[in-house]
Amino acid sequence: MFDNIKSSERVLIMAPLGRDAALACDILSSNGFSCHVSTDIKDLVPEVHRGAGAILITEEALTPEAVDALNGVLDQQPDWSDLPVLVLCGKPERNKKQNIINALGPGKHISILERPTSASSLVAVLHSAIKSRQRQYQVRTLLGKLRSTAARLEESNKALQDFAHIASHDLQEPLRKIETFGNMLTARYGPVLGEQGRDYASRMQNAASRMRVLIKDLLDYARASTKGGTEGRVNLKKVVHDVLSDLEVRIAQTNARIEIGDLPEINADGVQMSQLFQNLISNALKFHGDTQPNIAIFSQGCPNGSCEIRVRDNGIGFNQEYSEQIFTPFQRLHGKSQYEGTGIGLAICRKIVERHGGTIRAESSPGNGATFIINLPVGEGEELLQHG
Ligand SMILES: Nc1ncnc2c1ncn2[C@@H]1O[C@H](COP(=O)(O)OP(=O)(O)OP(=O)(O)O)[C@@H](O)[C@H]1O
Ligand SMILES: [Mg+2]
Repeated sequence: MFDNIKSSERVLIMAPLGRDAALACDILSSNGFSCHVSTDIKDLVPEVHRGAGAILITEEALTPEAVDALNGVLDQQPDWSDLPVLVLCGKPERNKKQNIINALGPGKHISILERPTSASSLVAVLHSAIKSRQRQYQVRTLLGKLRSTAARLEESNKALQDFAHIASHDLQEPLRKIETFGNMLTARYGPVLGEQGRDYASRMQNAASRMRVLIKDLLDYARASTKGGTEGRVNLKKVVHDVLSDLEVRIAQTNARIEIGDLPEINADGVQMSQLFQNLISNALKFHGDTQPNIAIFSQGCPNGSCEIRVRDNGIGFNQEYSEQIFTPFQRLHGKSQYEGTGIGLAICRKIVERHGGTIRAESSPGNGATFIINLPVGEGEELLQHG
């Protein structure tokens, strides 16, 4: 069987014996097409199944029996294949064109050519009809690729969810045992273990609690790529106020000054928006060095359906050359002894922002604070800037 699209240059001509078929065949052959001439519909149908780029048919050949058989074979074509049918007819009387189109059924790819037709217009109509069918084939191929990419993405999301499940249950259980038996060992046999033994046990317990934090962070990271809560209109100003109230103690301890500017209302997952600002504001509160933290969160408007939000601090900052590296999981620029953390916060921020179709980047220089710049689509609905 011919491949339907590879036989694009093959034209099936159906005409009762006469000059038309021979003439058309000559014209098409000298323009790079290959032709098959059928004198009746019984011969044409198997040829359509073998593959063709178009059918050229004379009006005389369109008997009621031929129309039925042609409709049958066109209906069996694959979804994407809008096989062009060119009908060669005499001077069309009123409604003739429409009658032919109606007879061949709605939704078919039919062109009517009036006799006498010049060679160039026959070739031009054929080329354009075949091209449009090829475009449909390409669209179908691209759609197929898109579908398989979406399926792969779904699979990898599923793998991530499975991992999250394994991490939360299977990994935490043995860890709990290490911690429990470590505690029992030091409580019951502490004196027998001696100083060095107790030191070993305490290092083991510290490693186990670090592992607990890592598992929790990995879980948060895995969850960030899957849907969190429900999507809807989210007032970012309210989100930031709620986050600040959660961070109340830390704000009081550091004596931080926080300024909230205009912030928009956007289409987003509210839970993930809270996570995003929680991570950024926590960092601004954490990496403040000796100076009192001065933090500003504001948006400079939402032109063209996308809003830019900035989270700026006056802290220790970092060299701009690390501005991408810090978004990688577990990448930190500052030692654990100086500033606590595992280095997952910004990786989660990037996942959340990208899940919402946006971007996040950082601008900084050592000693001059850092600014995190987020771009997020506003989504449907009215763009509202909430004034500070
Ligand atoms: N506002 C900031 N000022 C200076 N450095 C920053 C700032 N925010 C992030 N960094 C640097 O980027 C690194 C990665 O940040 P991230 O939030 O991912 O991790 P973390 O805060 O160290 O740990 P975690 O967020 O997991 O508790 C930080 O360790 C720090 O070196
Ligand atoms: Mg952080």
